[in-house]
Amino acid sequence: MSHFIMIAIDGPSASGKGTLAHRLAEQFHLFYLDTGALYRCVAKYILDHALNPDDHTAAERAAHYIHDHLNLEMLMDPALRTQEVADATSRCSRFPSMRKILLDLQRNFAHHPPHSAGSKPWMGSILDGRDIGTVVCPEADIKFFVTASLEVRARRRHQELLTRGHAHDFETVFEEMLERDERDKNRSAAPALPADDAVILDSSLMSADDVFEKACDIVRERVL
Ligand code: DC
Repeated sequence: MSHFIMIAIDGPSASGKGTLAHRLAEQFHLFYLDTGALYRCVAKYILDHALNPDDHTAAERAAHYIHDHLNLEMLMDPALRTQEVADATSRCSRFPSMRKILLDLQRNFAHHPPHSAGSKPWMGSILDGRDIGTVVCPEADIKFFVTASLEVRARRRHQELLTRGHAHDFETVFEEMLERDERDKNRSAAPALPADDAVILDSSLMSADDVFEKACDIVRERVL
């Protein structure tokens, strides 16, 4: 590998972008940042402090707190994965002023990731989210946009919630996902859309292994 590589992965909820990011991070020894989890931390702070996710001052206050106190373990908290947090995240993340607070933090992780626990330094970084290729890392070597039909994504999310012991009926999950997609796509600040030069991977047409293999081929072709 000739230089520190940077990969951006964007896409809607339950598209498989997180799974792909994890696998590519492992395969190519890249530092991985799940920026959805970062935004979820902000929403969780809002809910824990009985603030309103539709209030931009609450969103800013929470983003400042997370900006100043974030450690990587916070991103693994299973409490970030509830529907309540997901809904609040989609609400508070639409405010440009709060997104701006998290921007330098994400860019810093992308360019100067924390030291790897092993002895080998990171070969690069990989970030996933909604605006990585368009706003956070427009300079990324490769941009993937992972997508899948709403039906397929809602089924995956429903299954995931059942596995975690959260009882939700499929229709509710479908409706909530539809509503969240619309909000994420149609907001004026950093709408969840592919960059012009993104490679689109439709995971409703391919297995997770096929998506991974295709992405690996592209990484090898373009940056190795
Ligand atoms: O990928 P996810 O489902 O964990 O994302 C949760 C919410 O966070 C989603 O509604 C959109 C928002 N988000 C965002 O606005 N920008 C990002 N870079 C990542 C997530």
